[in-house]
Amino acid sequence: MDTSEEIKERYAQEAETYWKDAWLVNFDAKELFAEFKRIVNLLYPNKLEKINVLDIGAGNGMLTELIMREFPNAHISMLDFSKEMLESAQVIFEKEKFSVRNIDFIVKNFITDDFPKEKYDLIISSYALHHIRKEDTLKIVYLKIANQLKATGVFLCLDYYLEMTEETRENQVKTAFKRWIKNFNSKEIAKEWAQIIQGEDSPATISLIISSLNKCNSKELDVIPFMLPKKGVMSFIYGMINRKNNSSKKLEDYVNETKKYMGQEEIIASYSFDKYI
Ligand SMILES: C[S@@+](CC[C@H](N)C(=O)[O-])C[C@H]1O[C@@H](n2cnc3c(N)ncnc32)[C@H](O)[C@@H]1O
Repeated sequence: MDTSEEIKERYAQEAETYWKDAWLVNFDAKELFAEFKRIVNLLYPNKLEKINVLDIGAGNGMLTELIMREFPNAHISMLDFSKEMLESAQVIFEKEKFSVRNIDFIVKNFITDDFPKEKYDLIISSYALHHIRKEDTLKIVYLKIANQLKATGVFLCLDYYLEMTEETRENQVKTAFKRWIKNFNSKEIAKEWAQIIQGEDSPATISLIISSLNKCNSKELDVIPFMLPKKGVMSFIYGMINRKNNSSKKLEDYVNETKKYMGQEEIIASYSFDKYI
């Protein structure tokens, strides 16, 4: 089985048990989802706007739900190659009494399939793109995203990352492991997570992400990559914004922060939790 098939198989099995509270509590997702909400509101202050949104690797809709709550008139397309995860999203939405009237469920692979043809105000993604660790593949996916943004559109992604230098990475891994032991209240479960994170869930480095984003600019595509200055232990928020978007000024700080990471050489990093397990 290639990696894509393994990941698909894993989510087919996990669809019913992928429990969002455990997910939110045990990583730094809770703080970063709040930060995500803040940024979305900064970019789209009118909550009644009928924004067109694409959620890539939407799973059972944790991020989709955030958008649904913030923008009740939004039209959202949820794209995921796991039919089971999307079905689980429908069950959750029905349970929470959300209307799925404005939602499309699209079973597609974000690497190998074309995206829907329409243009979006917002393309979002959480904890899905880190599965890509090859610069060429990452660039292809980012280009597909950049091409589907409206002239004022924004891509906003919340995901795992790896620090760049050996020293900062070591600190990151150590802090994450301690945090999992505390949050799960079990070293055994923390160990299982460490195995997952070192396996197919192993994230890309910030420099790989930033260098791939930077390659999306061309004569036709004028996008500015950015990342949030505030990072979690394992997660951060980054993205691109079309230069034509008036809010791009509001994101200037993030753009400046991104610049610090440019010119970094280390693209693919190796790391290990073994020392702490
Ligand atoms: C960790 S889950 C995240 C789900 C959701 N965004 C969240 O934050 O809870 C990753 C999701 O990405 C999907 N995924 C991974 N690789 C994919 C690919 N190549 N194409 C489409 N979906 C993919 C998986 O099926 C899974 O639902």
